[in-house]
Parts: sequence; C-alpha cells; structure tokens
Amino acid sequence: MRIGVIGTGKMGRALAAAWARAGHQAVLGSRNPERVRNAAAPIDAGIELCSIAEALRAGEVIALATPWHGTQAILEAAAMPAGRILIDATNPPGSAHPDGATDHAAAALSGAEQIAAWAPNGRVVKTLNAVAARIVGAENRLFEGRRVTVPYCGDDPAAKTTVAELIAAIDLEPYDAGPLRSARYLESLGRAMAGMDIAAGRGRDLGFSLLQRPTERS
Ligand SMILES: NC(=O)c1ccc[n+]([C@@H]2O[C@H](COP(=O)([O-])OP(=O)(O)OC[C@H]3O[C@@H](n4cnc5c(N)ncnc54)[C@H](OP(=O)(O)O)[C@@H]3O)[C@@H](O)[C@H]2O)c1
Repeated sequence: MRIGVIGTGKMGRALAAAWARAGHQAVLGSRNPERVRNAAAPIDAGIELCSIAEALRAGEVIALATPWHGTQAILEAAAMPAGRILIDATNPPGSAHPDGATDHAAAALSGAEQIAAWAPNGRVVKTLNAVAARIVGAENRLFEGRRVTVPYCGDDPAAKTTVAELIAAIDLEPYDAGPLRSARYLESLGRAMAGMDIAAGRGRDLGFSLLQRPTERS
C-alpha cells in the first residue's frame, strides 16, 4: 500500500520508516523537501521524499504527523483527492496548555473531529498519537514479547479496518475505541503518555498495554 506521511519530524520519519520496513511504500511529504534532503539527518533509504501536495495525491492512506498549530493550514491548502483514509496522529494542546483556547476546544470538538471538518472529503481515523516516535521507529517494538496497545477510532468501518492492519503490520496492538467522537479520550491519553514519559526520565521507553477480558453478566 502507498502511504503518504505528512511531516518529516520525529513521528513522521518513524512512521514512514516502520511502514517501509514492513513492505509498504512510504511517501514522506515536507513543506520543503530540498531542505530536508540536504539536512544532516538523512531520510531512510526506501522512503520517497516529496512535497506535501505530492504526498497527499500519492498515498492511498495519509498519516498526519504535523504539529497541531500547522495542521489546519496544510489541510486547507492541500488538494487531497476525495475518499483518502486520513490517519490523525496529532496531539492538540489541552486546556492546560498556553494555546488552549483553540477553535476545537471552544466548540467542544476533539482535535480529530476538527480535522474531519477541515478535510471533509477524508475518512479520518484517530490513532498513533499516544505511542512514542522512538518506539515506532525502533527495530524491536516488543516489550518482553508484548505489543504496545494503539487505540484507534473513526466513523468509517472500512477505513478503520485498513488502519488496524497498518498498526498490526508494525508490531503494535490495534484496539478499536469506537467512533471518531472517542478521539477526545485518545487525545487525553496522548497527553498523559507524554507527561509520564517526561516523568520517567531519560533512557526509558514507556509503552501502554491495555488488558481486557470478557465480563460475565448475571
Ligand atoms: N514525537 C512523538 O513521540 C509523537 C508521538 C505521537 C504523536 N506525535 C504527534 O505527531 C505530531 C508531530 O510530532 P513530532 O514530534 O514529529 O514533531 P516535530 O519533530 O516537531 O516534527 C513536525 C514536522 O511537521 C512538519 N510541519 C508542518 N507544518 C509545520 C509547522 N507549521 N511548524 C512546524 N513543523 C511543521 C515539519 O516537517 P517539514 O518541515 O518537513 O514540513 C516538522 O518536521 C505532533 O502532533 C505530535 O503531537 C508525536
């Protein structure tokens, strides 16, 4: 599958590299591909670097790995073909953040629902926002044989199935968290993981694993 990853930072590079190693075609979209090509940190072999507009056209699935403050402009400027699956891996600022007074907060929308409003022809699936880029980018993503849980949510069942397969393809455990409205929980989890990651200190990988079993009803 061709996957367009938008953003050449920590998360965008990690996702593109992971999917490329899993046998997918990763197309990495940058605001300035020339600058990225000439930068000190090289892009992994096997990843195609191009403009954001090209990546949006090329990918059957698009993964957004952009800072929240840059995401609206990218989506509104871009001519994304209709029907693309749009993975939202972003973490919008929470109410405790200095940028807290954002449109999505005022409208009580999750970031993912706001993204769906900015890209009305995309099939948005929120996911991968609560797993650290260094885990996604690692050679071995397993923790003593166990996979890190990656919740995903969205309103398009076929898009969710495809995204779950892409999560499993990189040794992560997909967990169906329901409709796109659940993105607010995933975004809270993203903030919690980032905060606990800082608290854990340097040199530790922090992954989240959800335990579940069927409950007996009387
Ligand atoms: N880092 C993590 O562990 C992690 C984990 C899960 C989710 N996320 C989420 O993924 C997103 C990206 O995180 P990151 O850590 O990869 O960030 P980052 O290292 O700062 O990279 C973000 C990239 O987005 C692109 N971009 C597009 N518009 C931009 C703008 N207006 N200002 C700055 N950069 C812009 C840039 O690539 P070009 O210059 O090439 O366009 C930049 O390299 C965030 O929403 C974050 O919350 C991150």
